[in-house]
Amino acid sequence: MKPMTGKTVLITGGTGGIGKAAAIGLAAMGARVGITGRDRARAERAAKDIEAESNNPAVDVFVADLSSQAEVRSVADEVLSAYPRLDVLVNNVGGFWSHRHTTPDGLEHTFALNHLAPFLLTSLLLERLTSSAPARVVTVSSGAQSMGKIDFDDLMGEQDYSGQRAYNQSKLANVMFTYELARRLETTGVTATALHPGMTNTSFSAEDPARAMAPVVFVARPFMRSPKEGAETVVFLASSPAVEGVTGKYFANRKAKKSNISSYDGEVTARLWQVSADLVGAGDIG
Ligand SMILES: NC(=O)c1ccc[n+]([C@@H]2O[C@H](COP(=O)([O-])OP(=O)(O)OC[C@H]3O[C@@H](n4cnc5c(N)ncnc54)[C@H](OP(=O)(O)O)[C@@H]3O)[C@@H](O)[C@H]2O)c1
Repeated sequence: MKPMTGKTVLITGGTGGIGKAAAIGLAAMGARVGITGRDRARAERAAKDIEAESNNPAVDVFVADLSSQAEVRSVADEVLSAYPRLDVLVNNVGGFWSHRHTTPDGLEHTFALNHLAPFLLTSLLLERLTSSAPARVVTVSSGAQSMGKIDFDDLMGEQDYSGQRAYNQSKLANVMFTYELARRLETTGVTATALHPGMTNTSFSAEDPARAMAPVVFVARPFMRSPKEGAETVVFLASSPAVEGVTGKYFANRKAKKSNISSYDGEVTARLWQVSADLVGAGDIG
């Protein structure tokens, strides 16, 4: 029997890049895999590829633009209807924009998509994860978290926006969310981990109209990981018995690593949690 047989995994952003490669890896291990994407036709094409490459027909498609809280809520409802159990949630979707713009909820896009969407989706799926325990929440952060700072006075970059600062902040928020989630879920059998996938050759930042990352990508491309390599730590954290019960940790290259010093400040993580809960109108977790 394959190691993930009988397990159900939901991966946000499974239509390309790291998410799609992780979906192939986990489906090949026998899991039923749900992927999300914004466009049904693109997501269904990706599902067909994942099925073919993993030799597993158990791939489901969920359609939502996760920058909209209403769409996060409706996709969570669909997932709850479709999956009586959920063993792993991979919060993978993330992006970079060098210009400030807002979501349908009037929130700065980077913060809303990279941090508030996984925060809200996880909270909406948490009871299902808890009732499926042991279960895992794996959140794709970035090495950029190490340069991040949570600017509580200007979280949405209204006074002063920089794409890099907004991205760094959102990726630090992924790590802080993970640590606080792990603390709140201590006795539930649901673990929470975050990771840096490494510089990976994907479509990352391609939606930034200014293409601000393009010169960096051009220079770095020969040294970048393939999507399969970028997905290795995701697949490891989602499936390996070696990390059964491991929670509240940040990984890179399948190894636990120290994260930004501020991520270990319980007062800051608790404050970010409260601000996030207020911004998404989610109930308290744990
Ligand atoms: N690539 C790297 O070098 C690197 C390095 C460090 C960290 N990361 C992190 O890794 C994660 C995955 O990045 P990637 O490189 O694989 O990116 P990618 O190639 O751009 O893939 C992004 C995925 O997210 C989906 N997506 C984008 N915007 C969305 C939205 N508003 N609502 C719903 N889905 C949306 C896309 O689906 P559709 O377009 O089909 O909707 C696609 O499946 C991100 O969190 C990123 O911050 C990447």
